[in-house]
Amino acid sequence: MKIYKAKDYADMSRKAANIISAQIIMKPECVLGLATGSTPVGLYKQLVEWYKKGDLDFSAVKTINLDEYKGLSQDNDQSYYYFMHDNLFNHVDINEENVHIPTVSNDHLEDDCKTYNDMLNKVTIDLQLLGIGGNGHIGFNEPGTDFNSKTHYVDLKESTIKDNARLFFNGDEDAVPKQAISMGIQNIMDAKSVVLIACGKNKEDAVKGMIEGPVTPELPASVLQNHKDVTVIIDKAAAALLEKEY
Ligand code: F6R
Repeated sequence: MKIYKAKDYADMSRKAANIISAQIIMKPECVLGLATGSTPVGLYKQLVEWYKKGDLDFSAVKTINLDEYKGLSQDNDQSYYYFMHDNLFNHVDINEENVHIPTVSNDHLEDDCKTYNDMLNKVTIDLQLLGIGGNGHIGFNEPGTDFNSKTHYVDLKESTIKDNARLFFNGDEDAVPKQAISMGIQNIMDAKSVVLIACGKNKEDAVKGMIEGPVTPELPASVLQNHKDVTVIIDKAAAALLEKEY
């Protein structure tokens, strides 16, 4: 793992945006695995800025998102479909046909997972962007998820519902869907490279476990210790519990 400590949120966002830009410039038809959540908002903003300056071209880029809630339509502003369009896709020249976000029908979750996984089996993700949950989840792979998991549906943990209510649902836990579809840990590990970003004190335990703890399904992000090309970019608060110097 390469670990970079960022000065603050803006610095973390810029560093991660630089890595993603380099990927797009070096391979214009690259496949990007993308994440939602509050952490990558600044990074997406930076990519849009560089696109508008003429420095980036998304016309051949393919994207595959990690996850989506059950029960939210695409025009619901809390859906990850909406998030990705609002924060990135609507502002760059990406081809909508190249965008992949899990479709979640309410009655056929197994079929939805199979469809997404079949699509994943046909491509290789060049760069997978990840955030990390306060409980160490990556995607919506909650503690206890099998490292061999492929796209699956998930019962979200209470801690995730709380975190996401705070950030996205105006604090209303009842409004947060209790299930989601997520790429599995194996799908994530199949990416050629991974960039994980984290900021804030509420990530310090998860970050410590991911980097210095044992590799265990109880802290899903720790599996990244077994991946050959992982870059972690964290701010000071998220890095606070790390014992070694990086
Ligand atoms: C989002 C995702 C999640 C988030 C994680 C951190 O697509 O897969 O794993 O990356 O929950 O979320 P934030 O950035 O909101 O703290």
